Amino acid sequence: MLYQIYAVQCSCCLAYHVQRQMELVDTLARPTRDLRISVTDRCNFRCSYCMPKSVFGRDYAFLPRAELLTFEEVERAARAFRRAGVTKIRLTGGEPLLRRGIEDLVSMLARIDGIDLTLTTNAALLADKAHALRRAGLDRLNVSLDSLDDETFRTMNDVDFPVTKVLEGLEAATAVGFIPIKVNMVVKRGVNDADVVSMAEYFRNTGHVVRFIEFMDVGTTNGWRLDDVVPAREIVDRITGAHPLEPVDAAYRGEVAQRWRYADGAGEIGVISSVTQPFCGDCTRARISADGKVFTCLFAARGHDMRALLRDGAGDEEVDRWLASIWRARDDRYSEIRSTATASTPKVEMSYIGG
Ligand code: GTP
Ligand code: 5AD
Ligand code: SF4
Ligand code: SF4
Repeated sequence: MLYQIYAVQCSCCLAYHVQRQMELVDTLARPTRDLRISVTDRCNFRCSYCMPKSVFGRDYAFLPRAELLTFEEVERAARAFRRAGVTKIRLTGGEPLLRRGIEDLVSMLARIDGIDLTLTTNAALLADKAHALRRAGLDRLNVSLDSLDDETFRTMNDVDFPVTKVLEGLEAATAVGFIPIKVNMVVKRGVNDADVVSMAEYFRNTGHVVRFIEFMDVGTTNGWRLDDVVPAREIVDRITGAHPLEPVDAAYRGEVAQRWRYADGAGEIGVISSVTQPFCGDCTRARISADGKVFTCLFAARGHDMRALLRDGAGDEEVDRWLASIWRARDDRYSEIRSTATASTPKVEMSYIGG
């Protein structure tokens, strides 16, 4: 196996430690840089574009606890991906703040050198958790928020959750130093697209960055139709009509959002245009489900069982070889080949794989 040897300076003792890292790319020459780890498939919301109540009802069989990766197993998986080249880890769910002791997991992962550690949450529990997450070493936060209009927000989360509570969570997170926060708004035509400009305006001059996301055909239960998608171009045009925008270069290779800044200096927004302008060519993302399956695409039908490997007692070298063989075989580019036919092919659910 091919390793690169490099030195990392320890933030505690300032000594240089030698680390090895695999030189690993897939069949389309994409390295693995970004790992999304789902820590639970449960959520306290029932957003219709993700967990419609008709499917995720009272009798829905969520993963039993014994099926979930333990924190120690998550850490081992994370360290293996770090050796494979990953430099960013995002904790997701379902809703990651529902996983008991999440701050303990954050502090375990924060000890891994060279990782930007972040988490995507619906912020329902954020007011209570923000301080502990910060103290545990979480670097950044993304918050989902689909409307500032209370009625629209309650309809979209479908559990009658008030928008004021999410705003309180955002405030608490800002107060403990999470800034900028990326605020994700999934835009559905006829549902919340009238709120695009008000959302942009609310976060102008706050230091936070709203990202407008095209509604995607993830999973098979969200009733996706192309007609419900509001193209990113239309979103940018609508905002620019009120507050002129100019494009900004991507912060790093493979950034999901296209960045725009206000010409008057009031901050930035982003658009995530997986449907109208796919970005598979630069996709460096791997995902692990809460039960330890590795997925090489958000739209994949099946994953590779890492939990079995870990629970069978595999050593680090064996795990590295296994991971390398999966990544080297990767040829995913779903969004580039999306069509009405692919919209109904089998795919994992968003809440299981964490977006
Ligand atoms: P940053 O690193 O902070 O820029 O976060 P991110 O945008 O990668 O993560 P976040 O959890 O905030 O996701 C925002 C949206 O982008 C969600 O709707 C994700 O499902 C979507 N997304 C993230 N990665 C991919 C991807 O690889 N493919 C597609 N199609 N969508 C993605
Ligand atoms: N299309 C686009 N984005 C989605 N998300 C969940 N379901 C969808 C979908 N069908 C977003 C959430 C969250 C992020 C992880 O993914 O709003 O911000
Ligand atoms: Fe929960 Fe996020 Fe899915 Fe909404 S989009 S149901 S908040 S996991
Ligand atoms: Fe990556 Fe798959 Fe999304 Fe394309 S569709 S950007 S390959 S996760």
